[in-house]
Amino acid sequence: MSSQTSARRAFDALITERGLAFGGDYNPEQWPREVWHEDVRLMREAGVNFVTVGVFSWATIEPREGAREWAWLDEILDLLHENGIAVDLAAPVASPPPWLGLQHPDVLPVDRDGVRLVAGSRNQFSPASSTYRAYAQAITRDLAERYAQHPAVRMWHVGNEYGQIDHGDEAAREFRFWLRRRHGDIETLNAAWNTAFWSQRYDSFDEILPPRRTPYLINPAQSLDFRRYSSDQLLACYAELRDAIRAAGAAQPITTNFMGFFAHADYHSWADQVDVISDDQYPDPADPQSASGIALVQDLMRSLGGGRSWMLMEQSISAVSWREHNLPKSPQRARRDSLQAVARGADAICYFQWRQARSGAERFHSAMLPHAGTDSDVFRGTCRQGADLKLLSAVAGARVPTDVAILFDWSSWWAGEEPARPTERLSTMQQLNRWYRSLWRRGIAADVVHPDAGLDAYRVILVPHAYILSPEAAASLAGAAAGGAQIVIGPFSGVADEHAAILQGRSPVLLRELIGASAEEWAGMRPGMLRLADGFGPAEPQSADVLAERLRTEGAEVLAAHSGGDLDGIPAITRNGGAWYLGAVVSDGALDAVISGALAAASVSGPIAGVDVLPEGLEAVRRGGVLFLLNHGESPAEVPVTAGLFDLLTGEKTADTVGIAPGEVRALSEALSERH
Ligand code: GAL
Repeated sequence: MSSQTSARRAFDALITERGLAFGGDYNPEQWPREVWHEDVRLMREAGVNFVTVGVFSWATIEPREGAREWAWLDEILDLLHENGIAVDLAAPVASPPPWLGLQHPDVLPVDRDGVRLVAGSRNQFSPASSTYRAYAQAITRDLAERYAQHPAVRMWHVGNEYGQIDHGDEAAREFRFWLRRRHGDIETLNAAWNTAFWSQRYDSFDEILPPRRTPYLINPAQSLDFRRYSSDQLLACYAELRDAIRAAGAAQPITTNFMGFFAHADYHSWADQVDVISDDQYPDPADPQSASGIALVQDLMRSLGGGRSWMLMEQSISAVSWREHNLPKSPQRARRDSLQAVARGADAICYFQWRQARSGAERFHSAMLPHAGTDSDVFRGTCRQGADLKLLSAVAGARVPTDVAILFDWSSWWAGEEPARPTERLSTMQQLNRWYRSLWRRGIAADVVHPDAGLDAYRVILVPHAYILSPEAAASLAGAAAGGAQIVIGPFSGVADEHAAILQGRSPVLLRELIGASAEEWAGMRPGMLRLADGFGPAEPQSADVLAERLRTEGAEVLAAHSGGDLDGIPAITRNGGAWYLGAVVSDGALDAVISGALAAASVSGPIAGVDVLPEGLEAVRRGGVLFLLNHGESPAEVPVTAGLFDLLTGEKTADTVGIAPGEVRALSEALSERH
């Protein structure tokens, strides 16, 4: 068995033994020892069974070069263990101590303007710095050697939210190595980047720089490769510390916390380097669409882990402190957010952080145990969640099956949003969220997959915006369509190759046959109306905006055409058997009509028989034998269900309909209904 397989098994064993993990970041080094005993007592009271220790403790462990202050860590690990609380022990490499940057300025990152960042905040390290990496290795190795066999330690956590970008000289050298590996020789790179444009030709790799400040636009292929390099460089930092922990004899699972659709790390390449996927999620309580947005992130996390359960490693229990204006979460909202993650495949619900910091930059960031102490709604909410999660242990390890894939690729996102394109108003994430919302409103989960991944398992495949599309991905879409899947493709897709060079021919070149249509250009558009074909779409008028292609059908039927203006009569939405194409950014009603048409054609429906679109704000998702119903809306919702289901959270049995009050959650168990 590979060490990764056995480490994953160790995670599953922990969950089986303890139930769903519940806890958060715990920073005892920021508090006097007296407080630790109170912490542990209150953790037990709240049902906390898992904490991440030491994320920012480098300067405490190594206050001066070479020092190793372990006594405090020995003591707290023993205390946690005596109290049955499992520890996710962090290699504390995210925030190096001030002395390191003073003694070795080369560890400090340089921004694109050439400014070297300094200590006094956190994260001041360059992932390219060999000095930083040597010091990070040393402390991680010593930590792992000391604690690999400690019974409290059930997981390892490397760094924190890897995302540092460096434009300095060492980064330039590393970038060149990376380019050499990718392109082989300089002429191949010149061709891939088309450096004949604007006289950018390089005679040797040594002439190439990271994209620092330039007088005008940077070569988009250079920029794309730098993003790829930066993600790979961060991954290398993670991987070498993971290997150091393993080499010290640790058998526990090792992970690092992701950040959803984070712009500086391509998690498709990271996913199989961690033993368990873990993610930090901070939906904004001020955003009315945050429930579907975070559901999409949760579907991504599950998909990154190949469908296996994942960990919600950080979230806030009330307000964060880093937005311009920070709305709190009610305890009910915080509970719903946690249960939503469980519904969508999480086996661990953790917070940043256990005890609110009494000073420091995050003094106003909420925590499970707030400044006000235990006599607070926040702490009572913490305890309630601990109790709820115990009731849900039956879902641990269960999967969230789906027949729908939504394609997403970091490279495509990066290249598709380089400046100097037809419109800056087209946002990959916005389109992804809009498309996903049609699924979410129907209680249909999606696997978020890379276009080059196998697509055979899916009956519906959504491609909101695949700017870069490989010939292999185009072929697998065509193969899926031939096998009976419905494929829905959005505008400005299949535009470029892997080097961000525009494919030559009528677009989308590689998908032209599949969609039975083609276009000659992409252009920003003025808002305009659509004329819908009879029998297609909603009764309300529909419109198009942002970007339009001058589509010509070549066998496809036209479901909607532009109406009025320069584009009058030009197809905007087409269908060619199982391939649906949108040649413009169309309004929500038209988009929803396309997606629901594809779902219906594939006979894919939500988890509640007879209900297509769920009541406003209601989320429905089935995990294992449990139907979760979460009311994110402001009105009560009611849906038909099988009579006699058992609500794991309330202990009630259902009649043939179930009501869900605003903010409430039901977890209806089919398996248990037979037993109770
Ligand atoms: C995360 C970070 C935590 C804490 C939190 C506050 O991004 O990992 O250390 O800063 O944000 O919301």
